[in-house]
Amino acid sequence: MIIAIDGPAGSGKSTVAKQVAKMLDFHYLDTGAMYRSVAWCALERGVDLSDADALARIAADERIEFAHEAGNPIATGVAIAGKDCTHDIRTPRVDRVVSTVSAVPAVREALVEQQRAIAADDDIAMEGRDIGTVVFPNAEVKIFLTASPEERARRRALQNAEKGYGETDPAVILADIIARDKADSSREVAPLKPADDAIELDTTGMTIDEVCERIASIAAEKRV
Ligand code: DC
Repeated sequence: MIIAIDGPAGSGKSTVAKQVAKMLDFHYLDTGAMYRSVAWCALERGVDLSDADALARIAADERIEFAHEAGNPIATGVAIAGKDCTHDIRTPRVDRVVSTVSAVPAVREALVEQQRAIAADDDIAMEGRDIGTVVFPNAEVKIFLTASPEERARRRALQNAEKGYGETDPAVILADIIARDKADSSREVAPLKPADDAIELDTTGMTIDEVCERIASIAAEKRV
């Protein structure tokens, strides 16, 4: 079974998709980490971000690997071209350019192909922007998470403060979230939008546990 969890930055996708994967004993994939890895690799190499072909070559040729510990569906790290970028992909430097990189159609094609291969025949909770619309239009469960921009900025600030890296000023995060929402929703290829058959959940007033229980029960209904 595929559970597609889409939504804008800070809507709670990561926390929710990870917890749902643990609850249901599913695999888990953070597709945003793949776009971030390509963006980070481009920055490291000094690639001109307006050079779509160069970005596409990175996405197609450089291996993205997730590190896994036995028995844990949640990756503990990510590397591209053999270089660990687990922390670096969460920095403001990458936040600022990842929408540009993810708007390149050939980058998306290369990463979507890898995302489909990773899912293969496994049960997986996959989070991103276009999982229910493009990557797996036939996913059995499609969830589109939303929350107000202010709530999303507040959550991201808390999350980064806990992790000890990334931007922690809610006002700076809010400005970035608004800019990324606009870029992600208005791009031509695979814009951020709910699939016609997605269930939209506004998580503003909900706890993580409530959101996860809801998704698990939707999945259980689809199973029978
Ligand atoms: O989920 P995130 O914030 O880590 O995603 C980083 C960027 O990658 C985000 O600006 C949009 C893009 N992205 C995308 O276009 N498609 C996906 N499936 C996942 C992420």
